[in-house]
Amino acid sequence: MSIQAQITGWGAYVPQRIVTNDDLSKIVDTNDEWIVSRTGISERHFASEEESTASLATEAALQALQVAGLNPVELDLVIVASSSPEHFFPATACLVQDRIGANKAGAYDLLAACSGFVFALDVAAQAIRSGSIRSAVVIGAETLTRFLDWTDRNTCVLFGDGAGAFVLQASDQPGGVLASAIHSDGSGGELLILPSPGSRHPMNIQALEARLQYVQMNGREVFRFATRALGQVVQESIAKAGLKLEDIQWIIPHQANMRILEAAAKNLKVPMDRFVINVDRYGNTSTASIPIAVVEAVQDGRIRPGDKVVFVGFGAGLTWGAVTAQWSGPLAPPRRHAPTPKLIRLLAGLRSGLLRLLRRLDAVVWGRMQNWGQKGPPGDDYLP
Ligand code: UT7
Repeated sequence: MSIQAQITGWGAYVPQRIVTNDDLSKIVDTNDEWIVSRTGISERHFASEEESTASLATEAALQALQVAGLNPVELDLVIVASSSPEHFFPATACLVQDRIGANKAGAYDLLAACSGFVFALDVAAQAIRSGSIRSAVVIGAETLTRFLDWTDRNTCVLFGDGAGAFVLQASDQPGGVLASAIHSDGSGGELLILPSPGSRHPMNIQALEARLQYVQMNGREVFRFATRALGQVVQESIAKAGLKLEDIQWIIPHQANMRILEAAAKNLKVPMDRFVINVDRYGNTSTASIPIAVVEAVQDGRIRPGDKVVFVGFGAGLTWGAVTAQWSGPLAPPRRHAPTPKLIRLLAGLRSGLLRLLRRLDAVVWGRMQNWGQKGPPGDDYLP
């Protein structure tokens, strides 16, 4: 029997602060009527000053692990897909790995913009199906509102912050991730871009004056691309799974714009009520949008075990991809004495603090403290 990659846990976390279209109309020349009619977005969540991409990702991952009933020490792989990572490096995934106490897991970030969650799901599922690993947590997490130009009404009304995560585990049972299709077209790279900092435009006064540190987008071109790509890649991934569109109960798309989703539904000739949509309440949360929508649909009983579903993403790169899966659930019934997310966070924090202390003691004992003088940026002590 071949190994399957089942989706056994799911979690989502959005910051508490809600920002409505009326709130935005006080800082930029826009209004609720325009935003709702052109995008379907009514409100979005903004991360607080204390929150960051790694902290949102950690909350979503801990919830997903709890649903799966999987102890973080058993995890083999942590992937964070993000368009707004904590830093260039270290990878946000490494910070999450430390904060959830996934001691034996490898961790890395994956950058495919808004398609990132689907791309990450594809690689994690392949690693499990190949037998190379037994479990993975795949996270989409964003604080994109930190990278928006609040003088550019074309972009700043669209995005929100949040995180979502799936746990994937090896199983002999049929189901889980069935097939995937991913694509890229770098010739459209400049259509949606965050130019600086980067090798091409390092952070300097010229870059700042040109406002290159903010998201720039050619909305109309991205719109055209998205409406075509979405339907095509959904069909491709369903066909690779040996299924037909009629076999699919739910399509869970990247939540970018209601009009894009309506156009795609029309192309596919699928009624809108088979799409899971929540763009009205969260805006575009990039890599986090698919898992946040899935978690809501599972919690309110729309997505049920056995359902065939398609996750479909599209975005900067250009990138687009879809994963067809059979929804499952935890492999085992919930454990009575499973550690809570709070306890895991505490134990992981203690372990991390101890490791830092031991590293310092070792440096003192062996006379390497002169190298220890450099501190990170202010307030950036990486402690959970
Ligand atoms: O994850 C993928 C991320 N990106 C996307 O999914 C974006 C895809 N594109 C879109 O969603 C749409 O292109 C937008 C929502 C960004 C824009 O909608 P549109 O219907 O393509 O509008 P437009 O860019 O053609 O602009 C129409 C008008 C312009 O005014 P004029 O030149 O006709 O006088 C804009 O200046 O709407 C104006 N406008 C706004 N007005 C009020 C643009 N943004 C705003 C705004 N409030 N926030």
